[in-house]
Amino acid sequence: MTYEPAPEHRFTFGLWTLGNVGRDPFGDPTRAALDPVDTVGLLGELGAWGVNLHDNDLVPFGASAAERDRIVKRFRSAVDAAGLVVPMTTTNLFTHPVFKDGAFTANDPAVRRFALQKTMRSIDLGAELGASTYVFWGGREGSEVTAAKPTGDAYDRYLEALNFLCGYVRDQGYEMRFALEPKPNEPRGDSFLATVAHALTFIDHLDHPHMVGVNPEVAHETMAGLNFVHAVAMALWAGKLFHIDLNAQRMSRYDQDFRFGQEDLKEAFLLVRLLEGSGYEGPRHFDAHALRVEDAAGVREFARGCMRTYLILAEKARELDADPRFAEALAAAQAPALGVPTVGAYSPQAARELSEEEFDLDGLARRGAGHERVDQLLVERLLGVA
Ligand code: GCO
Ligand code: MN
Ligand code: MN
Repeated sequence: MTYEPAPEHRFTFGLWTLGNVGRDPFGDPTRAALDPVDTVGLLGELGAWGVNLHDNDLVPFGASAAERDRIVKRFRSAVDAAGLVVPMTTTNLFTHPVFKDGAFTANDPAVRRFALQKTMRSIDLGAELGASTYVFWGGREGSEVTAAKPTGDAYDRYLEALNFLCGYVRDQGYEMRFALEPKPNEPRGDSFLATVAHALTFIDHLDHPHMVGVNPEVAHETMAGLNFVHAVAMALWAGKLFHIDLNAQRMSRYDQDFRFGQEDLKEAFLLVRLLEGSGYEGPRHFDAHALRVEDAAGVREFARGCMRTYLILAEKARELDADPRFAEALAAAQAPALGVPTVGAYSPQAARELSEEEFDLDGLARRGAGHERVDQLLVERLLGVA
């Protein structure tokens, strides 16, 4: 195996990820801004499948219609020349100071209306570029002062906005699905739609729930101290994994957006194993950026690294699942038995049978679970000594 990324692997990056200039709340950029056309060229060269963008990664805020069209045309040619696609686009509803108190959930109705207008235009841009997924990361939807922003009303406005935009997409006849991206905090003290489970609950209340799924991000669930693999598995279970943001993160920190696999390799391994075994056919998007200490060569190393690590982990996962000792260990741990229904559907007869069943509680309680062996085999495979 050479672990060479190719378009068939469906790896994507955002303009904002490779183009990250290394600015942080304490310091100025450490790298020069990249022309989106150069980013696209680099991605094509590295074997990526696609490039994603926020409206303002490409078209500056406030550009005239003519300027917008010129920029989009030039970009389109570069994307085609590089053999890439644009599978996902999104809106920047967080940089301009008008969004300081949020966009769809800003207390000021004029800001909310402007946010919707900006999003409709950005959806048009996505449709023009052929994007089939439109991501909604909440950005500044949230608060620091809970009492100043009634939470139930905020969710009503959030729902209203998504319903309106689903209506817009249907009305325009765009082939586009929405993916909500949860995050617990940052830039707000507390964000709405904090986790994947919050987003899944929210989706159930929409007018067109089938149009909307989730875009979980490694860093975001990890910031909340949650198990990311569980979150993705639940999204898959609900039929709602529409997109995924891959990166790496240490728990309880700011959003680090590290190279995929930089932290918690075991979790990254379990995630790749889950995705590859799930039938998920969407993009493998890296929402990460090179470390601030890197130069242009480091950015290239970062991008190649994300993709290579994914491919290496996918190979390790195939090896593990083909290892008879692992299958035996899983059987001993009764993992396959979890796939067997417990009692089946309710019927009076089933209830009667169950109420008469006798259990050897001491025997059941004494039985070892066999989880240690499962994990050790996994660790040894990951360490390359299996
Ligand atoms: C973040 C988010 C963003 C979004 C992006 C696309 O924490 O800043 O992860 O990078 O993914 O805005 O919606
Ligand atoms: Mn993030
Ligand atoms: Mn993200």
